[in-house]
Amino acid sequence: MKLTVIGSGYVGLVTAVCLSDTGNDVVGLDNDPSKVEALNRGQTVIFEPGLGEILTSNMKAGRLRFTLDKPAAIHHGDVIFIAVGTPPKADGSPDLTAIRAVGDDIAQHVDKPKIVVIKSTVPVGTGDELEQRINAKAPFKVSVVNNPEFLKEGSAVADFQKPDRVIIGAENAEAAAVISELHEPFIRNQRPVHIMRRAAAEMTKYAANAALATRISFINQVANICDELEIDVNDVRRGIGSDSRIGFQFLYPGAGYGGSCFPKDVQGLIYVAKRAGVTADLLESVHQVNVRQRLVIYNKIITRFGQDLAKLTFAIWGVAFKPKTDDIREAPAVILIEKLLQAGATVRAHDPEALANLRQRFADRVSCHEQAYQALDGADALAILTEWNEFRSPNFELMRARMRQPIIFDGRNLYSLETMRKHQFEYYGIGRSAAYAARYSDRLDVSLP
Ligand SMILES: NC(=O)c1ccc[n+]([C@@H]2O[C@H](COP(=O)([O-])OP(=O)(O)OC[C@H]3O[C@@H](n4cnc5c(N)ncnc54)[C@H](O)[C@@H]3O)[C@@H](O)[C@H]2O)c1
Repeated sequence: MKLTVIGSGYVGLVTAVCLSDTGNDVVGLDNDPSKVEALNRGQTVIFEPGLGEILTSNMKAGRLRFTLDKPAAIHHGDVIFIAVGTPPKADGSPDLTAIRAVGDDIAQHVDKPKIVVIKSTVPVGTGDELEQRINAKAPFKVSVVNNPEFLKEGSAVADFQKPDRVIIGAENAEAAAVISELHEPFIRNQRPVHIMRRAAAEMTKYAANAALATRISFINQVANICDELEIDVNDVRRGIGSDSRIGFQFLYPGAGYGGSCFPKDVQGLIYVAKRAGVTADLLESVHQVNVRQRLVIYNKIITRFGQDLAKLTFAIWGVAFKPKTDDIREAPAVILIEKLLQAGATVRAHDPEALANLRQRFADRVSCHEQAYQALDGADALAILTEWNEFRSPNFELMRARMRQPIIFDGRNLYSLETMRKHQFEYYGIGRSAAYAARYSDRLDVSLP
Protein backbone atom coordinates (compact mmCIF):
# COMPACT_ATOMS: atom_id res chain seq x y z
CA MET A 1 0.00 0.00 0.00
CA LYS A 2 1.15 3.57 -0.63
CA LEU A 3 1.65 5.35 2.71
CA THR A 4 2.73 8.81 3.81
CA VAL A 5 4.03 9.52 7.31
CA ILE A 6 4.12 13.20 8.33
CA GLY A 7 6.73 13.94 11.00
CA SER A 8 10.00 11.97 11.06
CA GLY A 9 10.77 12.09 14.78
CA TYR A 10 10.85 9.18 17.24
CA VAL A 11 7.34 7.99 16.36
CA GLY A 12 7.10 9.00 12.69
CA LEU A 13 10.47 7.60 11.70
CA VAL A 14 9.88 4.27 13.43
CA THR A 15 6.39 4.07 11.86
CA ALA A 16 7.71 4.84 8.38
CA VAL A 17 10.61 2.41 8.67
CA CYS A 18 8.58 -0.49 10.11
CA LEU A 19 5.71 -0.09 7.63
CA SER A 20 8.14 -0.04 4.69
CA ASP A 21 9.76 -3.17 6.10
CA THR A 22 6.51 -5.12 5.60
CA GLY A 23 6.43 -4.19 1.89
CA ASN A 24 4.55 -0.89 1.84
CA ASP A 25 5.73 2.01 -0.34
CA VAL A 26 6.39 4.77 2.20
CA VAL A 27 7.17 8.49 1.91
CA GLY A 28 8.18 10.36 5.06
CA LEU A 29 7.45 14.11 5.10
CA ASP A 30 9.11 16.49 7.55
CA ASN A 31 9.52 20.27 7.62
CA ASP A 32 13.09 20.12 8.98
CA PRO A 33 15.44 20.26 5.96
CA SER A 34 18.50 18.99 7.85
CA LYS A 35 16.55 15.96 9.10
CA VAL A 36 15.23 15.08 5.64
CA GLU A 37 18.68 15.45 4.12
CA ALA A 38 20.28 13.23 6.78
CA LEU A 39 17.56 10.59 6.48
CA ASN A 40 17.95 10.43 2.72
CA ARG A 41 21.67 9.78 3.32
CA GLY A 42 20.62 6.82 5.51
CA GLN A 43 21.38 8.51 8.85
CA THR A 44 18.74 7.89 11.51
CA VAL A 45 19.12 11.31 13.27
CA ILE A 46 17.99 9.73 16.56
CA PHE A 47 19.60 6.91 18.50
CA GLU A 48 17.28 3.91 18.52
CA PRO A 49 18.60 0.32 18.61
CA GLY A 50 18.07 -1.56 15.33
CA LEU A 51 16.58 1.41 13.48
CA GLY A 52 19.59 2.17 11.24
CA GLU A 53 19.70 -1.29 9.66
CA ILE A 54 16.03 -1.39 8.63
CA LEU A 55 16.14 2.23 7.50
CA THR A 56 18.96 1.62 5.06
CA SER A 57 17.74 -1.78 3.84
CA ASN A 58 14.29 -0.42 2.98
CA MET A 59 15.74 2.70 1.35
CA LYS A 60 17.97 0.47 -0.78
CA ALA A 61 14.94 -1.62 -1.74
CA GLY A 62 13.24 1.58 -2.96
CA ARG A 63 10.34 1.33 -0.51
CA LEU A 64 11.24 4.32 1.67
CA ARG A 65 12.27 7.92 1.07
CA PHE A 66 11.95 11.28 2.80
CA THR A 67 10.93 14.64 1.45
CA LEU A 68 10.12 18.27 2.22
CA ASP A 69 7.67 18.36 -0.70
CA LYS A 70 4.18 18.61 0.87
CA PRO A 71 2.01 18.27 -2.26
CA ALA A 72 3.98 15.25 -3.53
CA ALA A 73 3.93 13.54 -0.13
CA ILE A 74 0.20 14.15 0.38
CA HIS A 75 -0.58 12.87 -3.13
CA HIS A 76 1.49 9.73 -2.53
CA GLY A 77 -0.26 7.97 0.36
CA ASP A 78 -3.67 6.31 0.30
CA VAL A 79 -3.23 6.46 4.05
CA ILE A 80 -1.56 9.49 5.66
CA PHE A 81 -0.15 9.06 9.17
CA ILE A 82 0.37 12.15 11.33
CA ALA A 83 3.20 11.84 13.88
CA VAL A 84 4.11 15.45 14.64
CA GLY A 85 4.78 16.73 18.16
CA THR A 86 2.04 17.77 20.61
CA PRO A 87 4.15 19.48 23.30
CA PRO A 88 2.60 20.96 26.44
CA LYS A 89 1.78 24.67 26.55
CA ALA A 90 2.66 26.72 29.64
CA ASP A 91 -0.66 25.73 31.28
CA GLY A 92 -0.05 22.01 30.59
CA SER A 93 -2.62 21.73 27.81
CA PRO A 94 -1.31 20.09 24.60
CA ASP A 95 -0.25 22.39 21.80
CA LEU A 96 -2.04 21.19 18.66
CA THR A 97 -0.53 23.82 16.35
CA ALA A 98 1.47 21.25 14.34
CA ILE A 99 -1.49 18.86 14.05
CA ARG A 100 -3.73 21.66 12.74
CA ALA A 101 -1.02 22.90 10.34
CA VAL A 102 -0.69 19.39 8.90
CA GLY A 103 -4.49 19.17 8.64
CA ASP A 104 -4.48 22.40 6.61
CA ASP A 105 -1.72 21.04 4.34
CA ILE A 106 -3.75 17.87 3.75
CA ALA A 107 -6.89 19.91 3.01
CA GLN A 108 -4.96 22.00 0.50
CA HIS A 109 -3.27 19.17 -1.39
CA VAL A 110 -5.49 16.07 -1.04
CA ASP A 111 -6.32 14.74 -4.52
CA LYS A 112 -8.74 11.89 -3.72
CA PRO A 113 -10.58 10.46 -0.67
CA LYS A 114 -8.03 9.25 1.90
CA ILE A 115 -7.63 7.91 5.41
CA VAL A 116 -5.78 10.19 7.83
CA VAL A 117 -4.38 8.41 10.89
CA ILE A 118 -3.43 10.39 14.00
CA LYS A 119 -0.48 8.65 15.68
CA SER A 120 0.45 11.67 17.78
CA THR A 121 -0.94 11.69 21.32
CA VAL A 122 -3.88 14.08 21.30
CA PRO A 123 -6.72 15.12 23.64
CA VAL A 124 -10.14 13.58 23.31
CA GLY A 125 -12.04 15.30 20.51
CA THR A 126 -9.01 16.07 18.32
CA GLY A 127 -10.02 13.47 15.72
CA ASP A 128 -13.48 15.03 15.40
CA GLU A 129 -11.98 18.51 15.17
CA LEU A 130 -9.38 17.53 12.56
CA GLU A 131 -11.85 15.66 10.35
CA GLN A 132 -14.20 18.65 10.33
CA ARG A 133 -11.31 21.06 9.74
CA ILE A 134 -9.99 19.13 6.73
CA ASN A 135 -13.36 18.25 5.22
CA ALA A 136 -14.60 21.85 5.51
CA LYS A 137 -11.87 22.95 3.06
CA ALA A 138 -10.81 19.87 1.09
CA PRO A 139 -12.23 18.93 -2.34
CA PHE A 140 -12.20 15.23 -1.30
CA LYS A 141 -13.39 13.79 2.00
CA VAL A 142 -10.98 12.17 4.45
CA SER A 143 -11.74 9.73 7.29
CA VAL A 144 -9.73 10.43 10.42
CA VAL A 145 -8.67 7.42 12.49
CA ASN A 146 -6.89 7.46 15.87
CA ASN A 147 -4.16 4.83 16.14
CA PRO A 148 -2.14 5.76 19.22
CA GLU A 149 1.47 4.67 19.46
CA PHE A 150 2.69 2.76 22.52
CA LEU A 151 6.36 2.30 21.57
CA LYS A 152 9.03 2.91 24.20
CA GLU A 153 12.14 4.83 23.21
CA GLY A 154 15.08 2.44 23.49
CA SER A 155 13.03 -0.53 22.20
CA ALA A 156 10.87 1.35 19.70
CA VAL A 157 11.43 -0.92 16.71
CA ALA A 158 10.74 -4.11 18.67
CA ASP A 159 7.67 -2.49 20.29
CA PHE A 160 6.29 -1.43 16.92
CA GLN A 161 6.90 -4.83 15.36
CA LYS A 162 5.50 -6.77 18.33
CA PRO A 163 2.96 -4.52 20.02
CA ASP A 164 1.13 -5.74 23.14
CA ARG A 165 -2.01 -4.56 21.36
CA VAL A 166 -3.10 -2.30 18.55
CA ILE A 167 -5.75 0.34 19.24
CA ILE A 168 -7.81 1.63 16.34
CA GLY A 169 -10.32 4.37 17.02
CA ALA A 170 -12.60 5.02 14.06
CA GLU A 171 -16.03 6.32 13.19
CA ASN A 172 -15.88 4.57 9.81
CA ALA A 173 -15.75 0.75 9.67
CA GLU A 174 -14.01 0.60 6.28
CA ALA A 175 -11.22 2.91 7.44
CA ALA A 176 -10.81 0.79 10.60
CA ALA A 177 -10.52 -2.36 8.46
CA VAL A 178 -7.77 -0.83 6.29
CA ILE A 179 -5.71 0.19 9.32
CA SER A 180 -6.28 -3.19 10.93
CA GLU A 181 -5.01 -4.95 7.79
CA LEU A 182 -1.88 -2.77 7.75
CA HIS A 183 -1.08 -4.06 11.24
CA GLU A 184 -1.60 -7.75 10.43
CA PRO A 185 2.11 -8.52 9.93
CA PHE A 186 2.76 -7.25 13.48
CA ILE A 187 0.05 -9.19 15.32
CA ARG A 188 0.56 -12.69 13.97
CA ASN A 189 1.37 -13.97 17.45
CA GLN A 190 -2.21 -13.40 18.59
CA ARG A 191 -1.73 -9.84 19.80
CA PRO A 192 -5.17 -8.22 19.97
CA VAL A 193 -6.46 -5.40 17.80
CA HIS A 194 -9.03 -3.36 19.70
CA ILE A 195 -11.34 -1.39 17.43
CA MET A 196 -13.32 1.27 19.24
CA ARG A 197 -14.81 4.74 18.88
CA ARG A 198 -12.28 7.44 18.02
CA ALA A 199 -12.64 9.30 21.32
CA ALA A 200 -12.15 6.04 23.27
CA ALA A 201 -8.84 5.45 21.47
CA GLU A 202 -7.69 8.98 22.26
CA MET A 203 -8.61 8.41 25.92
CA THR A 204 -6.92 4.96 25.99
CA LYS A 205 -3.53 6.46 25.13
CA TYR A 206 -3.74 9.10 27.86
CA ALA A 207 -5.07 6.61 30.41
CA ALA A 208 -2.26 4.12 29.65
CA ASN A 209 0.48 6.70 30.23
CA ALA A 210 -1.27 8.12 33.28
CA ALA A 211 -1.53 4.62 34.80
CA LEU A 212 2.21 4.01 34.35
CA ALA A 213 3.10 7.47 35.67
CA THR A 214 0.86 6.84 38.69
CA ARG A 215 2.77 3.66 39.58
CA ILE A 216 6.06 5.56 39.38
CA SER A 217 4.86 8.45 41.55
CA PHE A 218 3.36 5.94 43.99
CA ILE A 219 6.61 4.02 44.53
CA ASN A 220 8.57 7.28 44.67
CA GLN A 221 6.34 8.54 47.46
CA VAL A 222 6.70 5.20 49.28
CA ALA A 223 10.48 5.53 48.82
CA ASN A 224 10.53 9.00 50.36
CA ILE A 225 8.66 7.68 53.41
CA CYS A 226 11.14 4.77 53.62
CA ASP A 227 14.02 7.24 53.45
CA GLU A 228 12.83 8.99 56.61
CA LEU A 229 11.97 5.76 58.46
CA GLU A 230 15.28 4.08 57.63
CA ILE A 231 13.63 1.29 55.71
CA ASP A 232 15.17 0.02 52.47
CA VAL A 233 12.49 0.55 49.81
CA ASN A 234 13.99 -2.36 47.84
CA ASP A 235 12.69 -4.73 50.51
CA VAL A 236 9.26 -3.15 50.26
CA ARG A 237 9.37 -3.26 46.46
CA ARG A 238 10.15 -6.96 46.51
CA GLY A 239 7.46 -7.52 49.09
CA ILE A 240 4.69 -5.83 47.14
CA GLY A 241 5.86 -6.62 43.59
CA SER A 242 5.66 -10.38 44.18
CA ASP A 243 1.92 -9.96 44.74
CA SER A 244 0.52 -11.06 41.38
CA ARG A 245 -2.09 -8.29 41.55
CA ILE A 246 0.67 -5.68 41.74
CA GLY A 247 3.75 -6.96 39.85
CA PHE A 248 7.16 -5.33 39.50
CA GLN A 249 6.87 -3.27 36.32
CA PHE A 250 7.08 0.51 36.72
CA LEU A 251 7.68 0.02 40.43
CA TYR A 252 11.30 1.18 40.53
CA PRO A 253 11.87 4.20 42.76
CA GLY A 254 14.03 6.86 41.19
CA ALA A 255 14.64 10.50 40.46
CA GLY A 256 11.26 10.95 38.78
CA TYR A 257 9.92 10.26 35.32
CA GLY A 258 10.86 12.38 32.31
CA GLY A 259 10.78 12.14 28.54
CA SER A 260 8.42 13.65 26.06
CA CYS A 261 5.38 11.55 27.05
CA PHE A 262 4.61 10.91 30.74
CA PRO A 263 4.93 14.50 32.03
CA LYS A 264 3.05 15.86 29.03
CA ASP A 265 0.35 13.21 28.92
CA VAL A 266 -0.50 13.33 32.64
CA GLN A 267 -0.97 17.08 32.23
CA GLY A 268 -2.88 16.46 29.01
CA LEU A 269 -5.34 14.17 30.79
CA ILE A 270 -5.76 16.73 33.58
CA TYR A 271 -6.66 19.25 30.86
CA VAL A 272 -9.13 16.80 29.27
CA ALA A 273 -10.72 16.15 32.68
CA LYS A 274 -11.05 19.84 33.52
CA ARG A 275 -12.59 20.56 30.14
CA ALA A 276 -15.14 17.83 30.89
CA GLY A 277 -15.83 19.39 34.32
CA VAL A 278 -14.27 16.47 36.20
CA THR A 279 -11.90 16.91 39.15
CA ALA A 280 -8.54 15.30 38.41
CA ASP A 281 -6.97 15.48 41.88
CA LEU A 282 -5.30 12.05 41.66
CA LEU A 283 -3.59 12.99 38.38
CA GLU A 284 -2.61 16.40 39.75
CA SER A 285 -0.92 14.66 42.68
CA VAL A 286 0.86 12.21 40.36
CA HIS A 287 2.24 15.23 38.50
CA GLN A 288 3.16 17.19 41.65
CA VAL A 289 4.90 14.18 43.23
CA ASN A 290 6.97 13.89 40.07
CA VAL A 291 7.82 17.60 39.94
CA ARG A 292 9.19 17.25 43.51
CA GLN A 293 10.85 13.90 42.82
CA ARG A 294 12.96 15.32 40.03
CA LEU A 295 14.59 17.52 42.70
CA VAL A 296 15.20 14.64 45.11
CA ILE A 297 18.88 14.19 44.21
CA TYR A 298 19.49 17.94 44.29
CA ASN A 299 17.91 18.12 47.76
CA LYS A 300 20.10 15.26 48.98
CA ILE A 301 23.13 17.09 47.56
CA ILE A 302 22.40 20.38 49.36
CA THR A 303 21.54 18.54 52.56
CA ARG A 304 25.01 16.98 52.36
CA PHE A 305 27.04 19.97 51.05
CA GLY A 306 24.96 23.08 51.88
CA GLN A 307 23.31 25.59 49.55
CA ASP A 308 26.49 27.09 48.12
CA LEU A 309 28.06 24.60 45.73
CA ALA A 310 30.72 26.96 44.32
CA LYS A 311 34.14 25.27 44.47
CA LEU A 312 32.46 21.84 44.20
CA THR A 313 32.50 19.60 41.14
CA PHE A 314 29.78 17.08 40.35
CA ALA A 315 30.04 14.22 37.89
CA ILE A 316 26.82 13.12 36.23
CA TRP A 317 26.43 9.63 34.78
CA GLY A 318 23.40 9.40 32.53
CA VAL A 319 21.61 12.34 31.00
CA ALA A 320 19.00 10.65 28.76
CA PHE A 321 15.58 10.30 30.39
CA LYS A 322 15.99 6.53 30.15
CA PRO A 323 18.60 4.07 28.87
CA LYS A 324 19.06 3.20 25.18
CA THR A 325 17.89 6.58 23.92
CA ASP A 326 19.54 9.94 23.27
CA ASP A 327 16.37 11.82 24.24
CA ILE A 328 16.88 14.36 27.05
CA ARG A 329 13.45 16.02 26.88
CA GLU A 330 12.20 16.60 30.46
CA ALA A 331 15.03 14.38 31.74
CA PRO A 332 15.62 14.53 35.53
CA ALA A 333 19.36 14.94 34.78
CA VAL A 334 18.73 18.16 32.87
CA ILE A 335 16.80 19.61 35.82
CA LEU A 336 19.55 18.54 38.25
CA ILE A 337 22.31 20.03 36.08
CA GLU A 338 20.43 23.33 35.81
CA LYS A 339 20.06 23.47 39.62
CA LEU A 340 23.73 22.57 40.22
CA LEU A 341 24.90 25.28 37.83
CA GLN A 342 22.61 27.85 39.48
CA ALA A 343 24.18 26.94 42.84
CA GLY A 344 27.65 27.64 41.42
CA ALA A 345 28.85 24.03 40.94
CA THR A 346 31.03 22.74 38.13
CA VAL A 347 29.38 19.89 36.20
CA ARG A 348 31.13 17.11 34.26
CA ALA A 349 28.74 14.79 32.42
CA HIS A 350 28.85 11.46 30.65
CA ASP A 351 26.13 9.65 28.71
CA PRO A 352 26.71 6.89 26.14
CA GLU A 353 24.34 8.46 23.57
CA ALA A 354 22.93 11.79 24.71
CA LEU A 355 26.02 14.05 24.81
CA ALA A 356 25.22 15.76 21.50
CA ASN A 357 21.81 16.78 22.80
CA LEU A 358 23.35 17.82 26.12
CA ARG A 359 25.89 20.05 24.36
CA GLN A 360 23.10 21.61 22.35
CA ARG A 361 21.18 22.33 25.58
CA PHE A 362 24.00 23.61 27.82
CA ALA A 363 26.78 24.59 25.37
CA ASP A 364 30.03 25.09 27.33
CA ARG A 365 28.31 25.45 30.73
CA VAL A 366 28.81 21.68 31.21
CA SER A 367 31.89 19.67 30.28
CA CYS A 368 30.90 16.56 28.33
CA HIS A 369 32.94 13.35 28.42
CA GLU A 370 32.75 10.42 26.02
CA GLN A 371 34.26 8.18 28.68
CA ALA A 372 32.46 7.59 32.00
CA TYR A 373 35.60 7.59 34.20
CA GLN A 374 36.87 10.85 32.66
CA ALA A 375 33.79 12.62 33.97
CA LEU A 376 34.82 11.62 37.52
CA ASP A 377 38.17 13.46 37.51
CA GLY A 378 38.28 15.75 40.54
CA ALA A 379 34.59 15.24 41.34
CA ASP A 380 33.33 15.82 44.87
CA ALA A 381 30.43 13.51 44.15
CA LEU A 382 28.88 11.43 41.39
CA ALA A 383 25.15 11.60 40.63
CA ILE A 384 23.65 8.77 38.57
CA LEU A 385 20.45 9.66 36.74
CA THR A 386 20.05 7.02 34.00
CA GLU A 387 20.33 3.28 34.51
CA TRP A 388 22.53 2.51 31.50
CA ASN A 389 23.83 -1.07 31.77
CA GLU A 390 27.45 0.05 31.68
CA PHE A 391 27.00 1.83 35.04
CA ARG A 392 25.84 -1.30 36.87
CA SER A 393 29.21 -2.95 37.58
CA PRO A 394 31.87 -0.25 37.30
CA ASN A 395 35.42 -0.41 38.59
CA PHE A 396 34.84 1.15 42.01
CA GLU A 397 38.56 1.34 42.84
CA LEU A 398 39.19 3.36 39.70
CA MET A 399 36.22 5.57 40.54
CA ARG A 400 37.61 6.27 44.01
CA ALA A 401 41.03 7.03 42.59
CA ARG A 402 39.69 9.61 40.14
CA MET A 403 37.20 11.35 42.43
CA ARG A 404 38.14 13.99 44.99
CA GLN A 405 35.60 12.54 47.45
CA PRO A 406 34.04 9.05 47.27
CA ILE A 407 30.39 10.10 47.38
CA ILE A 408 27.59 8.72 45.19
CA PHE A 409 24.05 10.04 44.81
CA ASP A 410 22.30 7.19 43.05
CA GLY A 411 19.03 8.30 41.43
CA ARG A 412 18.40 4.80 40.08
CA ASN A 413 19.39 2.58 43.05
CA LEU A 414 21.96 0.69 40.96
CA TYR A 415 24.23 -0.46 43.78
CA SER A 416 23.67 -2.63 46.81
CA LEU A 417 24.35 -1.08 50.19
CA GLU A 418 26.81 -3.88 50.85
CA THR A 419 28.82 -3.05 47.72
CA MET A 420 28.94 0.60 48.70
CA ARG A 421 30.13 -0.26 52.20
CA LYS A 422 32.75 -2.68 50.86
CA HIS A 423 34.19 -0.06 48.50
CA GLN A 424 33.88 2.65 51.14
CA PHE A 425 31.61 5.03 49.30
CA GLU A 426 29.35 7.46 51.07
CA TYR A 427 26.12 6.51 49.35
CA TYR A 428 22.72 8.15 48.95
CA GLY A 429 20.10 6.15 47.08
CA ILE A 430 16.35 6.67 46.75
CA GLY A 431 14.41 5.32 49.72
CA ARG A 432 17.50 3.75 51.25
CA SER A 433 18.87 6.32 53.66
CA ALA A 434 22.57 6.48 54.38
CA ALA A 435 21.83 6.21 58.07
CA TYR A 436 20.14 2.90 57.39
CA ALA A 437 23.11 1.73 55.37
CA ALA A 438 25.57 2.64 58.08
CA ARG A 439 23.56 1.13 60.91
CA TYR A 440 22.52 -2.16 59.40
CA SER A 441 25.08 -3.21 56.83
CA ASP A 442 27.56 -4.38 59.46
CA ARG A 443 24.98 -6.40 61.35
CA LEU A 444 22.95 -8.00 58.58
CA ASP A 445 23.92 -10.12 55.65
CA VAL A 446 22.75 -7.43 53.25
CA SER A 447 23.03 -8.96 49.82
CA LEU A 448 20.35 -6.83 48.30
CA PRO A 449 19.88 -6.67 44.54
N1 LIG B 1 8.53 9.68 21.67
C1 LIG B 1 7.80 8.70 22.12
O1 LIG B 1 8.27 7.78 22.79
C2 LIG B 1 6.31 8.67 21.83
C3 LIG B 1 5.60 7.48 22.06
C4 LIG B 1 4.23 7.45 21.79
C5 LIG B 1 3.60 8.60 21.31
N2 LIG B 1 4.32 9.75 21.13
C6 LIG B 1 3.62 10.91 20.60
O2 LIG B 1 3.91 11.02 19.20
C7 LIG B 1 4.00 12.39 18.80
C8 LIG B 1 5.35 12.66 18.18
O3 LIG B 1 6.34 12.46 19.18
P1 LIG B 1 7.89 12.37 18.80
O4 LIG B 1 8.62 12.04 20.04
O5 LIG B 1 8.07 11.50 17.59
O6 LIG B 1 8.16 13.90 18.38
P2 LIG B 1 9.45 14.49 17.65
O7 LIG B 1 9.55 15.88 18.10
O8 LIG B 1 10.62 13.57 17.79
O9 LIG B 1 9.04 14.45 16.10
C9 LIG B 1 8.11 15.31 15.50
C10 LIG B 1 8.57 15.56 14.05
O10 LIG B 1 7.53 16.28 13.37
C11 LIG B 1 8.14 17.25 12.54
N3 LIG B 1 7.13 18.28 12.24
C12 LIG B 1 6.61 19.20 13.09
N4 LIG B 1 5.69 19.95 12.46
C13 LIG B 1 5.62 19.48 11.18
C14 LIG B 1 4.86 19.84 10.04
N5 LIG B 1 3.96 20.84 10.09
N6 LIG B 1 5.04 19.14 8.88
C15 LIG B 1 5.94 18.14 8.83
N7 LIG B 1 6.70 17.76 9.89
C16 LIG B 1 6.54 18.42 11.05
C17 LIG B 1 9.35 17.72 13.32
O11 LIG B 1 10.33 18.33 12.51
C18 LIG B 1 9.84 16.40 13.95
O12 LIG B 1 10.76 15.75 13.10
C19 LIG B 1 3.70 13.20 20.07
O13 LIG B 1 2.33 13.49 20.11
C20 LIG B 1 4.06 12.23 21.18
O14 LIG B 1 3.34 12.50 22.36
C21 LIG B 1 5.66 9.80 21.35
